[in-house]
Amino acid sequence: MQEHNRGQWGSNLGFLMAAVGSAVGLGNIWGFPYKMGKTGGFAFLIVYLALVLLVGIVVMLGELALGRSTGKSPIEAYGALKAKYKIVGVMAIISPFVILCFYCVLGGMVMRYMLGFLVSIFGADGFSGQGDGFFGYLLYDYKGMILFFIIFLVVNMGIIMGGVQSGIERFTKIAMPALAVCLVIIIVFVAMQPGAKGGYEFMFKPDFSVFSDPDIGFFGVLKTAAGQMFFSLSLGMGAMITYGSYLSKKESLQRNSLIIPIADTVIALMAGMMVMPACAAYGIDFGKGPGLLFASMQGVFLDGMGGTIGNVMGFLFYFLVFIAAITSSISLLEACSATIIDKQIAKGKAPRRKTAAGIFTLCIFILGLPIALDALGSGGALVKAPYELMGLEAGGAGYAMWNDCWLDFYDLIAEGILMPLGALLMSLIFGWVVGPKYIYDECEQSGHPFKFKPYFDVCFKVIVPIIMVVVLYAQITDFF
Ligand code: PHE
Repeated sequence: MQEHNRGQWGSNLGFLMAAVGSAVGLGNIWGFPYKMGKTGGFAFLIVYLALVLLVGIVVMLGELALGRSTGKSPIEAYGALKAKYKIVGVMAIISPFVILCFYCVLGGMVMRYMLGFLVSIFGADGFSGQGDGFFGYLLYDYKGMILFFIIFLVVNMGIIMGGVQSGIERFTKIAMPALAVCLVIIIVFVAMQPGAKGGYEFMFKPDFSVFSDPDIGFFGVLKTAAGQMFFSLSLGMGAMITYGSYLSKKESLQRNSLIIPIADTVIALMAGMMVMPACAAYGIDFGKGPGLLFASMQGVFLDGMGGTIGNVMGFLFYFLVFIAAITSSISLLEACSATIIDKQIAKGKAPRRKTAAGIFTLCIFILGLPIALDALGSGGALVKAPYELMGLEAGGAGYAMWNDCWLDFYDLIAEGILMPLGALLMSLIFGWVVGPKYIYDECEQSGHPFKFKPYFDVCFKVIVPIIMVVVLYAQITDFF
């Protein structure tokens, strides 16, 4: 009865596509290449892959199992284990909210590029005469930034208002495979450009020199890779708990918790193999930062492919990145909205999905404004930088630039602190208090025996907590 009210996935494939759709997004395509570019290429890649294996898969299983066993959104799901654990659930919905504030600004930028290529196909100048340098121009085009931020927010809200099956599921089934195909085409094209080799070397040739870089070091790489891993896999917060809560007992949790991280990691690697060689071929610094994807792809579409083909491919690419971003942002908004929906159901009221999504969208718009108006910390912004408001010094040592830029500041709160902390608490709860058996029992409900108990025991009890403490330590020392 209650399940009927909340909504449920139509099939396991539908769930998988939606979960992979949540995982695969701007994190993979925009975040992964630029973070890898900033923190040493190969060294980052190795640390990232290790984290997916030791932490990502484990936390994924824990969150899906918690969602499905309780059938509830994050706060109530943790509360069902023990009333005082509700606080972990509260953290789990602050993260998606904070992420949405910058995610939708970035999503708007993706739409702006998509439109730029679309009108260029028909002979107009879609990039305001700026061509390759459009990124720098767009950041200061505040009206444009806000307009596209709003468009992205409205599309996002519309889908969530549509509900679990008709909205989310239908959308993701087609978009995810199409994105993979588009990536392959661009990877092959980039591979054929002179100089592309440098990008593969950066990613795959063993080199750990970044560990001795005083501004980054091992801790710098570890915390960047950890934050990226949580962000990219949609973990350490409410999204997977919420999606798990709509999953039928018949499906194998252990299989799904492997497929989602693998698919996500493959797409991130593909994005790396698209962006890094493109940087090498078009002379863009790997460590350029958040503008890396946009800059390198302008090189590919405008200079490399050029002409109508370049414009068509550019449009197609940004269209699919936009879809990937939307399938992620809807899971973020769903994680927030489901909380209110569950509250209404608990009070015996009919759930008001539309109102919930609408209220959150408005709040996200307001809190996202500083991100749209500070030119991503490039200086000369319309709003004061975080450090000015907090009376701190500008910049900070080398790598720690969070106090210059609102996007980095929001990102630090979510993927830097709340997500590792959420994963730490979850692993402690399942490792030591409730016991991992809770998760294995839930997995076995589908009739599939759970085969990897010893591995998961060690991960829940020891490995995940230790790594999370180290990550948080690295984060905190950086903060002060
Ligand atoms: N994983 C998404 C991405 O890579 C972002 C996201 C984070 C979505 C957390 C849901 C929850 O873009």
